[in-house]
Parts: sequence; structure tokens; C-alpha cells
Amino acid sequence: MSGKNYSKAVEDIKSTVNIVDVIGSAITLKRSGSGYMGCCPFHKEKTPSFSVSESKGFYHCFGCGEHGDVIKFVEKYYNLDFQSAVEKLCAQYGIIIEETVGPSDKKKEEYYEANKQAARYFYDRLSKSANKGYEYMSGRGLSAKTMQFFGIGYAGEDWTGLVDKLTKNGVRKDVLIELGLAAEKNGRLYDKFRGRVIFPIINVRGKVIGFGGRIIGGGEPKYLNSPESAVYQKKYNLYGLNRSKDAMLREGFGILVEGYMDCVSLYQAGIENVAASCGTALTPEQAKLLKRYAKSVVLCYDSDNAGINAAIRGIDVLREAGIEVKVLNVDDGKDPDEYIKKHGKDSFLDLMRRKAVPGVEYKVAILKRSYDLKDHTQGIKFLQELASIIKRLSPVEADIYIQKYSKEFGISEGALRREVEAASGDKTQDVPVRHAAQPSGSEKSGQPSRTQLNVEHMLIRLIMLKPSYIERIRDYPEAFVSGRGRSVIQSMESFYKNGELDMDALRSELSDEDLLYLDKIEEKIQIGEDMEKSFMDCVSKLERARREARIEEIDAILDMSDTLPEEALDQEYINKLLMEKQQLIIKNKGEN
Ligand code: CTP
Ligand code: MN
Repeated sequence: MSGKNYSKAVEDIKSTVNIVDVIGSAITLKRSGSGYMGCCPFHKEKTPSFSVSESKGFYHCFGCGEHGDVIKFVEKYYNLDFQSAVEKLCAQYGIIIEETVGPSDKKKEEYYEANKQAARYFYDRLSKSANKGYEYMSGRGLSAKTMQFFGIGYAGEDWTGLVDKLTKNGVRKDVLIELGLAAEKNGRLYDKFRGRVIFPIINVRGKVIGFGGRIIGGGEPKYLNSPESAVYQKKYNLYGLNRSKDAMLREGFGILVEGYMDCVSLYQAGIENVAASCGTALTPEQAKLLKRYAKSVVLCYDSDNAGINAAIRGIDVLREAGIEVKVLNVDDGKDPDEYIKKHGKDSFLDLMRRKAVPGVEYKVAILKRSYDLKDHTQGIKFLQELASIIKRLSPVEADIYIQKYSKEFGISEGALRREVEAASGDKTQDVPVRHAAQPSGSEKSGQPSRTQLNVEHMLIRLIMLKPSYIERIRDYPEAFVSGRGRSVIQSMESFYKNGELDMDALRSELSDEDLLYLDKIEEKIQIGEDMEKSFMDCVSKLERARREARIEEIDAILDMSDTLPEEALDQEYINKLLMEKQQLIIKNKGEN
């Protein structure tokens, strides 16, 4: 967030921008029934099934199911993130995005700026005159062009080069320290990154949020990474995605590797749809980010045990985000970087075509390695494990794999099927991702209701009492319905770290109004003994509101189906919607 009041801008867009105007300037629309029709820009079609409703401010494709409001359209069509889409529309329609006076936003801007200056400093040192960093990187096969493209830099062996330069430019000492660029000893500041090549970590919005520094040659630690800060939270970011997202969209899939070098090397070799998880276990947040650009992902981790384990865990994380996963083990060389240097692009692509296996099959293959199937007891154990892997699949997938593996392991389909039924559902079932029925409930009618405000206040109070709730509520951004609430939760996010929230620091940064809001909540909102129950009550209210929003959305789609020419009307789809609606209604009734 960059200190701008986006939610106000969103309201302005919804009330002033005509969706037919916006979509009509991208594709050809024709009047039809009560709305407009055209050929869907999101899938290939010859007969139009893409419908736009001016009055509802909503589009829906009856062919592929894509739908949303004007902002969603701009996001998808022009391939922008939410904020950029809002900015584009505002620029086009003369809507002014007001500045919020959130102190935490100002702070972030200052941090981004400092990081940007540091990145420039490191890059200048690598690119302007001879140095060990450039030498090392060219020795590892990178061209000057690639180094420039990724902004790779060099931190020399001296102790204060960066500190001197940035201090002169007015960057504050605290900022240098919190960003992990400098440390202090005996009252003197010194550079943290020394004798390393530097990979700036840049988010998809183009902001430098951190750095990874690889030691030149041997030594410990091999990589020094920026600490978490107000602008860098590892779990939300993937290295290289700022450069590779377009290629992912173009190719229809992404390749995920472990290391900085793997990413940069593959890109240089012409495999551009690649990003790196940087050695840590893949997080659900990263998966969600990735899903914006890639519906399917090839995990291409190192061929050692750590890589295999990371892949196994990664498969589940990605699947749970609704991403289709394949796994590729590079068998020659320890990692993709080595492989591509040895064999080149074509051979890598060929390997991927031949050897990348679906996530499930990879898991089964790895599982099989740890059992001796000739031994009876072990064989049974293996089948049970197999069953619990299958159990977590969708019914169709499960069916396919039951057939496949019963043949492969010489057991009857029926037996395996029963084993699957009996298997402990393991973990949670694969959760289908919500393509969030836009949290319209609150946004549309303007004023938040009493219940909505109450939920917001309860949640803020709960987070004060037990900060880790902030993580569990991240999937419900619509919970914060008031401007104050949104501003406070944003500030809370920036002071939240490892399960803890530094309330004093938070208070000292809040504006007077935000502070007042927080104090009022602390004073007025009582939480009973059972915090968890209070929390779950809030969640179920939010879930319920989502169902209501989805019901409204379905109604809108059903209304719009009258724009369709007879032959394009997919009765089966309409029936599906009707059923979904019915179930939502039943569910909402049941929870009364
Ligand atoms: N990593 C890290 N800190 C370390 C070691 C590794 O953060 N001490 C992360 C880095 O993001 C690194 C990734 O884990 O890129 C993979 O580690 P590794 O395979 O050891 O490094 P490579 O990427 O292969 O680096 P190189 O080729 O330079 O040896
Ligand atoms: Mn490597």
C-alpha cells in the first residue's frame, strides 16, 4: 500500500465508470436483450457468450465462467494487479486517488526509497569498473545483460561504502538498520553486505523489498538475506516473479526453482517463466501470488534430499491454492542452474516434456522408495499410505489413480477403493479456492451495517489480545468495513512479526484518529472467556456474508442469461448455478 486511499477510489469507480465503456473499448460489444454481448477475451470462441450488464456493472462469460466487475476486467485483460487496475481506471476517468495519512505507509515509502538507493549503489559497483563481483558472475556464465536485467550488484569488501553513500543521500540510520543494510557497533555504523554479489529482491509492483547476497567463493553464510521488515515479508514474495510474470501468463504455466542462481540462469537461457522460492518452504501466500500468473506450475527443485522434501510439501501447498502441479527432477547436475549450463534450453525443455510428472505421481514414486514391496507387511503399509494420498484428490482424479495404481501394483480396484474410503482423510481436504465472490456485501451499499462494524471491532480487539489471529483473518479482507478499521489493520500488519504485535510501537505510529478508534474498541468491546469461540463467530458471519454475496452474483448471472442467443444458452450450466444457489440458501438458513 502506498499511502493512497484505494477503497475510496474503488467506490468512485463503481459509481462513475460505465463498464460497457471500458469493456467496449477493449472488445466489440453488441446490444442484446437487456445487456451487451461479445466474444470472450479470456478464452477462444467464435460465437459470443460474453455478456456485460451495464446496470449491474458486471460481466460474465457463459463459455468459460470468467466474471467480475469493471476492475476485475481491467486486472485480467491488461494483466495488472488490483491497485494498478484501479490506478489505470482513475487516470482514464479523471478520478483522484486521495492520499491517506497512514504513517505506516509513509514509513514504507521511505524504506522502499532506501532499498532502491542501495540497489543502485550495488549495481553501480558491479557495472562501472572491474570488480570481483562481476568477475564471479561472468565466471558462472552470466552475461552483462542478464546482470543488468536482474539488477545484480556487488558489495565490496570495505566496511562503510554503502553506509557512507546512503547517509550522504539523507537515508536515516534507523532505516538502514531495520532494513538489514547496516549494523551498529561501538556507536559506528557498518555495512552488513560485504564481499558478496547482490540479488535485489523486487516485488511484482517493482519495489525493491530486500536483498540476497551470495558470498564470492567459499565462506559462511553462503547467502545473506535481508531480515523481515515493514517492506519485506518472505512468505509473500517469490524471487524473479517481477521479471517472469509476463512469460508465465504467455506460456500458461510457471517453473518454480529453489535458488536465485537457478532462476537467473534459466531466464538467461531463454526459459523466462521461472521464479524462485529461495530455499524456504513454499507458503500458501506465495502460492496465491503465483496463481495470479500461472494456473499450473512445474516444481523444479534441487535433486538432493532437501529438494525432494521441499517438493513434496510444495505439491500440497500449490494444490491447495488450486494450482495444478508437476514435478521435475533434474537428474544430471545438482540443480537447474547446473543442468541448463551443461545442456542448454532445448534439452531442458525436452526433459520437462518427458520427465515432469504430476504431483500425485511424484508423491507416490517417492513413497514407494521407502518400502520394500516384496515384504508383505511393508506392502500393506505402503497401500495404506497410497490410499491416503488418493483420498485427498477430487473424485475424478481419485478414480483415475485408483485404476492406474491398482493395475500397477497388482491389486483389485475394489480393494484399493475400499482402502481409500477407509483411509484417514489426512490433513484437511483439498480446499477449493474461492475466486472470492468480490466482497461486495459491504462495498456496494455504501454504509457498513451494525453487524459488520461489530465484527470488525471484535476482530481488532481479538488481535490485540492474541496477535496471531491476524494471520487467520488475512483471507477475509472484507472484514474491515470502515476506513478506520482498514487503516488500523494495515498498521497492525506492519507491526506484526512472528506471532507478536508490538502494541507500544503501533500506538506511537498511529494517527490521532486511529488511536482514538483503537482506544474506544479496547474500552468498549468485551470478549468472553472463550476467545476462539468469539473468533469463530466472526468468521462464520463473514462466511455467511460471502454466501449472500455469491447468491446475489448468481442472481445477476441468471438475469443476464437473457442476453444470450438461444443456441449459446448452456442449460446445464444454468442448472448448476441454480443448484449452487439453493445450497447456499439452505446453508444460510441452517446457520440461523
Ligand atoms: N539459501 C539461503 N541461505 C543459505 C543457503 C541457501 O537463503 N545459507 C537460499 C538461497 O535463496 C539459495 C537457495 O536457498 O538460492 C538454494 O540454496 P543452494 O541450493 O544452497 O544455493 P544455490 O541457489 O544453488 O546457490 P549457488 O548456485 O550460488 O551455490
Ligand atoms: Mn546452485
